Amino acid sequence: MADMMNANRLSQPLLALKNIDKSFGGIHALSGVSFDLKDGEIHALVGENGAGKSTLIKIITGAYTPDKGIIAINGTELNSLNPEQSRRLGVGVVYQEFNILPELTVAENIFLEAPPMQRFGLIDMKARSNMAKQLLDRLGTCIDPNELVKNLTVGEQQIVEITKALATNARILILDEPSAVLPSRDLDRLFSVIKTLKSEGCGIIYISHRLNEIFELADRVTVLKDGQTVVTKDVSETNNTDLVRLMVGRPLTDMYPPADNKPGEVILEVNNLNIEGTVFDVNFQVREGEVVGLAGLGGCGRTTVCRTLVGLGKLVSGKIKYMGKPALRSPSQAAKAGMVLIPEDRKTHGLVLNQSMRFNMALPNLSQIGRWGVLQHTVEKQIVDKAISDIQIRPSNPEITAENLSGGNQQKIVVGKWLLTNPKLVIFDEPTRGIDVGAKAEIYMRIRELTHRGIGVIMASSELPELIGMADRILVFHEGRIAGEISRENFSEEEIMHLATATNEESSPCN
Ligand SMILES: Nc1ncnc2c1ncn2[C@@H]1O[C@H](COP(=O)(O)OP(=O)(O)OP(=O)(O)O)[C@@H](O)[C@H]1O
Ligand SMILES: [Mg+2]
Repeated sequence: MADMMNANRLSQPLLALKNIDKSFGGIHALSGVSFDLKDGEIHALVGENGAGKSTLIKIITGAYTPDKGIIAINGTELNSLNPEQSRRLGVGVVYQEFNILPELTVAENIFLEAPPMQRFGLIDMKARSNMAKQLLDRLGTCIDPNELVKNLTVGEQQIVEITKALATNARILILDEPSAVLPSRDLDRLFSVIKTLKSEGCGIIYISHRLNEIFELADRVTVLKDGQTVVTKDVSETNNTDLVRLMVGRPLTDMYPPADNKPGEVILEVNNLNIEGTVFDVNFQVREGEVVGLAGLGGCGRTTVCRTLVGLGKLVSGKIKYMGKPALRSPSQAAKAGMVLIPEDRKTHGLVLNQSMRFNMALPNLSQIGRWGVLQHTVEKQIVDKAISDIQIRPSNPEITAENLSGGNQQKIVVGKWLLTNPKLVIFDEPTRGIDVGAKAEIYMRIRELTHRGIGVIMASSELPELIGMADRILVFHEGRIAGEISRENFSEEEIMHLATATNEESSPCN
């Protein structure tokens, strides 16, 4: 009898969602979605931007209440949960946006909600630090619990987020696009942390737009499309092409448009650029109608170079010449002269979250829209509607507030609004971060259209396939210097990685 009960418990999933429905006003974000998770399983959740992945997660964490359906955690069936219940039932989450506080220490962040207490209501700081250390050790990392979070790398901050989620003894860990913000060097560490948790019996829900990660990590994969489950499969029974077809609804044969750029005159010249101890002696040129790729590991200087080109940050020495003239002093001056930067950190630098999509897209285009100082609404509407349909922003209603869009659709607004201006040189820093596979192909097409119009493009990216697919030349950065330049006929991931990691790279996991 006891054996039978045990068998029952073993076969029972950690988590089961049955027929979940959720609407926001007129938008049906989830309809009739079922999903389950077993212990020791990594279950990937994939789908286009706006498919409903984050909404499903928020139902499991109690952030949203479902309109219909049942949530069963460890066999306890509920119609809805609040965040506290969800935590108590063993759910831990790392959301798409980081939630840790940079000015606090690692240990303070990990035990923010339930710090260990001494008598008299005081926080037991020693115990807190020890407990944090134990958790970090368990995950095989050597992060100092007393370090301020702002001094950590993005990769380490990510591990702190996971540790925080585990501090309440989570058995179900949810990771919503954990790799989107990570430099490639930190991916291995993230994956080994996830594998450790799996071996300890945790169930993990893993969301990513990078399908190769799913094949490396996951046991099963569920595809969502337009708020519905398309299929749940064993990862061993599917492949990249199959998953893309299930997500997008059609096969996607050519991710990258043909490489047929015809570079013209030099429009940007960078000579002996040195920046505040982070960038050393950088020299390069960009021509009309070409894509110059910038590769390298996280922190290698790419982003600093991109920002400096539009007048952000301090230039210590060297010369930047744009269209034969001296460097531009601010992003707005640069934009007026036709050089725009689409920044890496779009949440803080690219979007006004509480304003409408229309407002956000029209912002940089006011000079086109507002002739004689009057905002011409029909022109504005045309411009914005075109951008929305060009890069498939969904839902397509321009009056929707930016913060109510899915993560990937927010990114598309920022990319889309600049494509609407009439630039001469566009600098993309991580152009497709968090963007789904179908919309990526759209963005690549738009970039190729820019080069056909004679516009120069700089593309800093940590996704090597994207650089190889789009660039005419790739400059590989290593610790603030250009370690080498590779031309299209010699492109290979091996060669880029070789240049990017040259010299005595880390061997200890604690570096
Ligand atoms: N609070 C909200 N108010 C209104 N609509 C919302 C809200 N949250 C989500 N939505 C809508 O629900 C749908 C699903 O969004 P969700 O964030 O779950 O997508 P996602 O699959 O996580 O996409 P992405 O890959 O871009 O992160 C979208 O149409 C989105 O605009
Ligand atoms: Mg999401």
